[in-house]
Amino acid sequence: MATIDLAQTSRRADFPAIPEGWHYLDTAATAQKPQVVIDAIDRAYGHDYATVHRGVYRRSADMTIAYEAARQRVAAFLNARSADEVVFVRGATEAINLVAQTWGVATLRPGDRILLSQLEHHSNIVPWQMLADRIGGVAIDVCPLTGDGRIDLDAAEAMLTEAHKLVALAHVSNVLGSVLDARRATRLAHAVGAKILIDGCQAVPRIGADVQDIGCDFYVFSGHKLYGPTGIGALWAKGELLDAMPPWQGGGSMIDRVTFAKTSWAPAPQRFEAGTPNIVGALGLHAAIDYVEEIGLPVIHAHEVALVRAARAALSGINSVRLFGPEDAAGIVSFAIEGVHPHDIGTILDEAGVAIRAGHHCAQPLMDHLDIPATARASFGIYNDAADVAALAKGIERVTRIFG
Ligand SMILES: Cc1ncc(COP(=O)(O)O)c(C=O)c1O
Repeated sequence: MATIDLAQTSRRADFPAIPEGWHYLDTAATAQKPQVVIDAIDRAYGHDYATVHRGVYRRSADMTIAYEAARQRVAAFLNARSADEVVFVRGATEAINLVAQTWGVATLRPGDRILLSQLEHHSNIVPWQMLADRIGGVAIDVCPLTGDGRIDLDAAEAMLTEAHKLVALAHVSNVLGSVLDARRATRLAHAVGAKILIDGCQAVPRIGADVQDIGCDFYVFSGHKLYGPTGIGALWAKGELLDAMPPWQGGGSMIDRVTFAKTSWAPAPQRFEAGTPNIVGALGLHAAIDYVEEIGLPVIHAHEVALVRAARAALSGINSVRLFGPEDAAGIVSFAIEGVHPHDIGTILDEAGVAIRAGHHCAQPLMDHLDIPATARASFGIYNDAADVAALAKGIERVTRIFG
């Protein structure tokens, strides 16, 4: 890959909440917001605000058009066949719970199996455990990882049987940054008749996703990791699956007709959006996708690959630092320092204005596999540059001096 000039591609100036001298390296937890997203939210509340879908007045009709335009924008971003395949949710966590509680409850039976991987976020483990408990007699299998921290699809191929009804895997690991071959994972799932859900939380802001090219059945992501607001995300599902899924939450907006004798449901996606939705969140997400696509995901990815390479090179030169994950990780570098708890690393770095994440990253089974309680994690976004990597390396050198 050609070397890129990080100073040229960094878009730090677009982000008002990153002051000079502060090094934000926790984008995998949540991304900072560019001014265009803040402006879109400000405009929506400060100028255009009204409810959607129900109002007969002009303002509400306009807001409905804007809300549905956001759905179209998400659909185009994922290359969905139709905006009707996009359900707005609070985020990836809610999307996975929705699939588990609707499709899962309607589909799984005792004796069925679910395949997850060792590196999944708790959001892509716990909803399936709850489903398995609810149905009873449903087993969860765990696909192992390769030595460099990728989901081992050869092992998945050997493990999958016709008893598997669902495979659910992260497109990009939030701890290791490893990238799944989502097309192959989909082929393997479909070969045994299983459906596949891809957790795209860390993938959509870093490498993007084309759901038709991948061929998957469900794809989920959170807006706040994509430079958009919190409280909004999307579930994409193949139209025929969504049409067959029962609703999970009841209330306004998701019905066709209500009587005390019987209620009928609205078609998808409305059937899955009970209550007044996160109207402004959807508009903010629209602005975030516009922002990301204006820069271009290939540019963002190349920028983050260069940052990862620089960070790994700087950290591997420091004695006692152990790096996790593959060399070509997408935007995320996890590490540990022998004899130092990651929380101490995080605290000392914070004194130097470097914000990293320390902990289990909602991936305790992965920590068990790595045989450590926690890691320190630096994760990058389009606003980072070489100065952030230098500050990280300098801070880590200080940590190693303090701890001898
Ligand atoms: C890979 C992955 N999946 C799921 C989630 C859950 O996302 P949210 O908390 O926005 O619902 C996260 C968030 O850290 C994540 O990184």
